[in-house]
Amino acid sequence: MKLKSIGQNLLDRVDPRIIAATERAMKAIPFVKARLDKEYGGMLDGMEHSMRPYAGKIESYSAIPDKGRTREDLLSEIEGLAAKESPRWKEGFLSGAVYSGDDAHVEFMNRVYSATSQVNPLHSDVWPSASKYEAEIVAMVADMLGAGPGNGKAPREDQICGAVTSGGTESILLAMKAYRDRAREKGVKKPEMVVPNTVHAAFDKASQYFGIKMKKIPVGSDYVANVKAMKAAITRNTIVLVASAPCFPYGLVDPVTEIAALAKKNKIGCHVDACLGGFVLPWAKQLGAAVPPFDFVVPGVTSMSVDTHKYGYAAKGTSVVLYRGHELRSHQYYTVTDWPGGLYFSPTLAGSRPGGLSAAAWASLVSTGKGGYLAATRKILDTTELIKAAVRSMPEIELMGEALFMVSFCSKKLDVYRVLDELGKKGWNLNGLHRPAAVHLCVTLRHTQPGVAERFITDLREAVAAVKDSPPASGGMAPVYGMAGTMPLKGLVGDFLKRYIDLLYKV
Ligand SMILES: Cc1ncc(COP(=O)(O)O)c(C=O)c1O
Repeated sequence: MKLKSIGQNLLDRVDPRIIAATERAMKAIPFVKARLDKEYGGMLDGMEHSMRPYAGKIESYSAIPDKGRTREDLLSEIEGLAAKESPRWKEGFLSGAVYSGDDAHVEFMNRVYSATSQVNPLHSDVWPSASKYEAEIVAMVADMLGAGPGNGKAPREDQICGAVTSGGTESILLAMKAYRDRAREKGVKKPEMVVPNTVHAAFDKASQYFGIKMKKIPVGSDYVANVKAMKAAITRNTIVLVASAPCFPYGLVDPVTEIAALAKKNKIGCHVDACLGGFVLPWAKQLGAAVPPFDFVVPGVTSMSVDTHKYGYAAKGTSVVLYRGHELRSHQYYTVTDWPGGLYFSPTLAGSRPGGLSAAAWASLVSTGKGGYLAATRKILDTTELIKAAVRSMPEIELMGEALFMVSFCSKKLDVYRVLDELGKKGWNLNGLHRPAAVHLCVTLRHTQPGVAERFITDLREAVAAVKDSPPASGGMAPVYGMAGTMPLKGLVGDFLKRYIDLLYKV
C-alpha cells in the first residue's frame, strides 16, 4: 500500500506530457492494446446487463416510429418505469442524489413545472416572470450566504450578485471562466488555479475547457486544505484560490478565512464551492453546530457556487453562482453584436433555458421558508450524528473527520470497496472514493425517515462482517476501483470510463 502510494505520488509529479506520450506508446504496442481491450471488455460486459435492465423487455427505438404511439400508452409506460425505479430513492438507499423527495413537495414542484414548461428566460420580454424568479432566487441565496440586508443598495463593486445556472458544474465553470477572462484583461496569458485536491471534478473540467492550469494541492491528514502548501503554489499566473464548503468526498469545510485572506493579500479571487453545503451550513450554524465562517461575511471571498437542486430541495437542474461585485460577474456573460441572427446575449453557458426549472426553484425557496430549512437541517444533522456514532463503534472502519451531513469511512483492516459491494447487494447505492480508498454516505432528508438510519447501520455492520469473514468473490465494483487505484497510468482508466459512457448511449 505504501509503495503504491509512493509510486502514485511520483507519478503525480511527472510532467503530464511525458505520461501521455508513454501511454500513447504503450497503447501502440499490439500486445498491450489487446490485453487492455480484453480487460476492459470483460469488465464492461459484466456491467452492461445491470446498466440496461430494460433491454428486450420493452420497446426500444433507433429511429422515430412511423406512426406515433398514443399518449396514454406512453404515459403508462413512463409512469411504470418511474414507479419501478422510485422505491430505491424514496426509501433512502442512495447517497445524496435526491435531497427532499417528499411526495407533497415533489408534487408541488411538478405542478409549478407543468404551469411553466414553455417558459424560456432567453426571451425575457415574453416571459418577464422568468427574470423575476431568477433575480429573486439570486437575491435570496445571496442573503442566506452573508450578503447582508443592505446588499440591494450596496455599490456595484461590493454588491453580491449572480446568476441562475443549470447545476453546480455550470456554476463552477462560469466562475472559473470569469476569473480567466478578467485576468486576461490584466495580461495573464497562462492562468492557473490553486485548489485542494478534494475540490469537485467540475474544477478539473473548467481547467480543461478553459485552458486554466490546475495546481492540485493534497489535503493534510485532517482531510482539509493545506493552506501553507496552497500559499507556496501561488505564482504571478494564479488567478483564483478555491475552498469547498464542504468538499464532496468527506463533507469537510476547508479553512475559508485563511484561504480568502491569502487570496486578498495576493489580489486574486477566492471561490468557495458551497454547491453541497450552501443550503445546510447557514441553518446548521443557527442551530448551534460548529460551522466556521465560509461565505461572503469572510473578506476576500469573491465568488460562490450553491445548488438549489440539492439541499435547496428544488427540482433537478438549477444552481446559483454568486460574485462580489458586478464587474466580475460581467466576465461570465456572453454577447455578440455582429451575428446575422441579430444582437445576442446570454448570461450563462446555455442559450435557451428551462424557465420552468427556475420557477420551481423559486417556489421551493419561498414555500420551504427559513423555518422549513431549519427543521430539515435539524433532522439531517441528528441523523448524521446517529450514523457517525455507529461507525465509530465498528473497529474495522474509520470515520474520516467530523462532517455535519456526510459519513465517510476508510479502513486499514479490510477492503472498503468490498464493503461498498456488500452494501450494494442490500440495495444501497453509496459513493466509492479514491486516494485514499473510502466510502461515503451523503445524508439527506430521505435518511431521516423512521427506520432508515437504523437499517443502514445494521446493513453496514453485516457488510463489514461479511468482508471480514469471507474471501473476495469475482464481480462488483471492487475490482474496478481497485484497478483505478493501482493503474500506473491515469489515461488508461480514463479510456475505460469513456467506454463506459459509450455504453450509456447504446440502444
Ligand atoms: C461540492 C460539490 N461541488 C460541485 C458539485 C457539482 O454539482 P452538479 O452535479 O450539480 O453539477 C457537487 C456535486 O455533488 C458537489 O458535491
